[in-house]
Amino acid sequence: MGSQLLSTVERREVLPESYIRPEFDRPRLAEVMTDSDVPLIDLASPDKQRVIAQIGLACRTYGFFQVINHGIEEELLEKMMAVGLEFFRLPPEEKEKLYSDEPSKKIRLSTSFNVRKETVHNWRDYLRLHCHPLEEFLPEWPSNPESFKEIASAYCREVRLLGLRLLGMISLSLDLEEDYIEKALGEQEQHMAVNYYPQCPEPELTYGLPKHTDPNALTILLQDPNVAGLQVLKGGDQWIAVSPLQNAFVVNLGDQLQALSNGAYKSVWHRAVVNAARERMSVASFLCPCNSAVISPAAALVRDGDVPVYRSYTYDEYYKKFWSRSLEQEHCLELFRSTQLQ
Ligand code: OGA
Ligand code: NI
Repeated sequence: MGSQLLSTVERREVLPESYIRPEFDRPRLAEVMTDSDVPLIDLASPDKQRVIAQIGLACRTYGFFQVINHGIEEELLEKMMAVGLEFFRLPPEEKEKLYSDEPSKKIRLSTSFNVRKETVHNWRDYLRLHCHPLEEFLPEWPSNPESFKEIASAYCREVRLLGLRLLGMISLSLDLEEDYIEKALGEQEQHMAVNYYPQCPEPELTYGLPKHTDPNALTILLQDPNVAGLQVLKGGDQWIAVSPLQNAFVVNLGDQLQALSNGAYKSVWHRAVVNAARERMSVASFLCPCNSAVISPAAALVRDGDVPVYRSYTYDEYYKKFWSRSLEQEHCLELFRSTQLQ
């Protein structure tokens, strides 16, 4: 079985047919805007109340923000990016060993998004790893490049602590107890996607990742500081390019925080576009509820007499539904609305 990895073939001059989007579904890059008001949050600011208010506003309006002074050493971010790139540069036979298109596998190298379900492919390869509890998964992680395990595990540990801190601040911003969300999500899993978007001969015709929302609770994205590609949908129809910022993370809420907040906070539509001149890397860390966690809107956020916007469900049920579909469909959370709503 030959994989369809993009990173194992020579640079292409023409985009293969199976990556070409129909005309109505192309990125229209000329219409994308760069918004200078993307929320930027300084986590080292001494005014904690103000930081929490800024996070609340960002979650309500944009559904995402960037954080700086997050406490993780810049050197570790650089090493993580470098070792990720080194991984995708390994010889094909090395990468082939890890290739799988089975979404339930906990350690796998794959391409596009869900090659079994989708009709058009995406210009992306990715290494997906489960990362918590680390000791359980680490032995199966790639041992080539040699420093991969050490760097990526240090990175995952730090990002988890940052994620938990952010969840505390997000809880407070909703007027919930600081540990409300952390408790509601149970012993959270953590997954990582190291994304590699090769140079693409025709970026106007395809995506790295098409429009989607993240199914998890919170995503912490490290972007290549030199190559833009992440875009976020604002106001339902305007794509905004999120300019990469040195030593910053992009944080976006996933579907589970939209559900827990009873729809007050948004799990934002986003996508990754590709580039004719340069390859691009990103490292996405996903904090996910534990599989058996029952997710439902926080009672304190449902007004007396109202029906919660979403019904209760287990994360296991949600996650299976998410991966049974292709990315381009409607928001997965729509399938979990309360049916009693008038
Ligand atoms: C993701 C994602 C965006 C990017 O991995 O879910 O949205 O810029 N990535 O790579
Ligand atoms: Ni995403």
